[in-house]
Amino acid sequence: MKGKKKLFGVLLIGLMVSAVLTMKLSSRADDFTKQDVERWTKEFMTVVKEGDKLFHSSSLGKNKVSCDQCHPNAANTHPETYPKFQKQIGRVITLFEMVNWCLRNPLEGDPLAADDPRMVALLAYIHYERRGVPLAPGKH
Ligand code: HEC
Repeated sequence: MKGKKKLFGVLLIGLMVSAVLTMKLSSRADDFTKQDVERWTKEFMTVVKEGDKLFHSSSLGKNKVSCDQCHPNAANTHPETYPKFQKQIGRVITLFEMVNWCLRNPLEGDPLAADDPRMVALLAYIHYERRGVPLAPGKH
């Protein structure tokens, strides 16, 4: 009986120590400083600026046409409505697929992979221009 009580006590202490350690570790995982946020924001804005340049450049396609000729300042690109059904493609698509549709058709160029830095930059710029607009997936 005495042995059992001791074992129980040791187990309880072990449990408490591991609970405290877990709490410490998990709070450390989402800890970040003001400097972190400044660095991340700076990196994000660098990508947005790159997208701004691409959006206004005629180098993406093969016919010297640029995105802003049809979408000045990305105003009518409605990123907040994606994913949605797009009649040009005939199914529900995400935003990068619509950008590729424009790269292939109006720009007569080649599509970009979803993780191509140029695609990431274009999407960052398009989303940034529409910041604050409520999400409305599927909307027409
Ligand atoms: C010659 C005109 C033209 C050019 C240049 C052009 N687009 Fe488009 N874009 C369109 C048309 C037409 C649509 C289809 C409109 C629709 O169905 O909503 C469209 C749709 C889009 C949409 C979706 C808009 C929505 O409301 O769902 C995005 C995003 C987009 N274009 C991005 C781009 C990007 C990025 C480029 C440059 C790589 C580009 N476009 C170049 C004509 C153009």
